[in-house]
Amino acid sequence: MKTLITIFGSTGDLTSRKLLPAIEKLLKDHLLDEDTKVIAIGRRDFQTDDYLDYITKTAKTSLDIEYLKRHVEYFKLEVNELSDYQNLKNYIDNHEITFERKIFYLAVGPDLLKEIAINIGVSELVTKGDLSSSITFEKPFGQDLASAKEINQMLWRYYDEKQLYRIDHYLGKEMIQNILTVRFANKIFENSWHNHAIKSVKIIAKETETILSRALYYDTAGAMKDMIQSHLLQMLALIAMEVPKSYQSEDIKDEKVKVFKKLRYDIDSVVLGQYEGYLDEPHINKDSKTETFVFLKAFCDTPRFKGVPFYLLTGKALEEKESVIIIEFEETPEQHKWDLPLKTNKLYIKIAPLDGISLTLNSKVPGLRNAVEQVDLDYCIACNAVGNMPEAYEKLFLDMAFGHKSLFTRWDEIELSWKFIDELRKEIKDSNTKLVQYKNHHDLYQTIKALTGEDF
Ligand SMILES: NC(=O)c1ccc[n+]([C@@H]2O[C@H](COP(=O)([O-])OP(=O)(O)OC[C@H]3O[C@@H](n4cnc5c(N)ncnc54)[C@H](OP(=O)(O)O)[C@@H]3O)[C@@H](O)[C@H]2O)c1
Repeated sequence: MKTLITIFGSTGDLTSRKLLPAIEKLLKDHLLDEDTKVIAIGRRDFQTDDYLDYITKTAKTSLDIEYLKRHVEYFKLEVNELSDYQNLKNYIDNHEITFERKIFYLAVGPDLLKEIAINIGVSELVTKGDLSSSITFEKPFGQDLASAKEINQMLWRYYDEKQLYRIDHYLGKEMIQNILTVRFANKIFENSWHNHAIKSVKIIAKETETILSRALYYDTAGAMKDMIQSHLLQMLALIAMEVPKSYQSEDIKDEKVKVFKKLRYDIDSVVLGQYEGYLDEPHINKDSKTETFVFLKAFCDTPRFKGVPFYLLTGKALEEKESVIIIEFEETPEQHKWDLPLKTNKLYIKIAPLDGISLTLNSKVPGLRNAVEQVDLDYCIACNAVGNMPEAYEKLFLDMAFGHKSLFTRWDEIELSWKFIDELRKEIKDSNTKLVQYKNHHDLYQTIKALTGEDF
């Protein structure tokens, strides 16, 4: 299919580090049509060659610029100038290629989203109901429930919900896509995926990176809005949801929404942290109280999961990068009777840096003594895959190109997750929850134990 990908924010980090590499890979693998074009939109006075030079210099990943030259065209546009959008429309309408699919991708901060989306609609670059054109938004979608609602009302004036793609790139990750298969296609898990057998769920996203160049955005958001509202709540929903009626996008989303409706937090469990040195980062307010670490305990009051704690933990500037979901199962009755160092079974759903699954079991130590040890059944997806594993953005672009929406978030998911975060943030403010400084995650684990009694 002849596809047009128009990227607003083409000089930004996301475009050079994630979007262009994903498009290059899909083109080289012939998963996108050879006639695919990328229109890189920017406010800088560039010609296409200048743009590609700029990207070569600033990109933190290696790009095959000679190859991309065949597909990328730069277009200068001021985001607040409607006439520029009309010029863009003329440019596209008069292009030598007649595009069958048009994707307008907003890789810009949330402050620009509304204005660009309105101008795309008013200039009829995308017309309401025409499913061959779509518009894609990066997270965060809004800054709280009120702003997200306002943006959404505006979007529904100009676009049909089917034309809106709200990205949560975690949903494009291999192992996240695999969660439903592991849960529902394996009798051993499906039969024990409930509060009689599961003791706790830990959802962890640790990052080594600091805020890098994202100070202006990050200082107004913090870890709660940047990570919990989107990635961690999405992971929680996939773990806690009921079996969907079908594996169609809408049925899966219906079940995720039911989880969000039953979600509550334990305010006494909340620990907020800020890494040492955060206040010295460029453009950060010297008395900023923005959290770069969050720990909290939540519950999903559905018959399946009532009473099971879901521990959510995310933070920046930690010693290791790791995204993992750990499902801890209950002890067996026999385990209590045996005088042996037995442990609970744990299922690890590993999302980053390497995707995979592992399951720890108690096993007899080979030999004549009656000893036990914990063994791991480990499956590393990347280690077994032939060739490179696709990046999340490759999968997401492919789905946008073919109009598949399962891996994009629906409005009611976003609405309910913002409601959860807004209420939590209000209660944190009212209860004067302290912000602790940290150097590493060992500090934090000790603080969590001291403040909440949770042994993490
Ligand atoms: N970077 C990531 O890894 C990542 C991951 C997930 C989500 N996101 C989301 O993706 C979006 C973009 O992130 P980013 O990291 O690419 O941001 P960024 O590096 O700051 O880039 C922002 C882009 O917006 C343009 N821009 C800023 N102000 C503008 C204005 N007033 N008029 C026209 N253009 C303007 C910039 O153009 P100039 O170069 O001309 O300033 C640049 O192209 C954000 O919503 C972010 O939360 C980013």
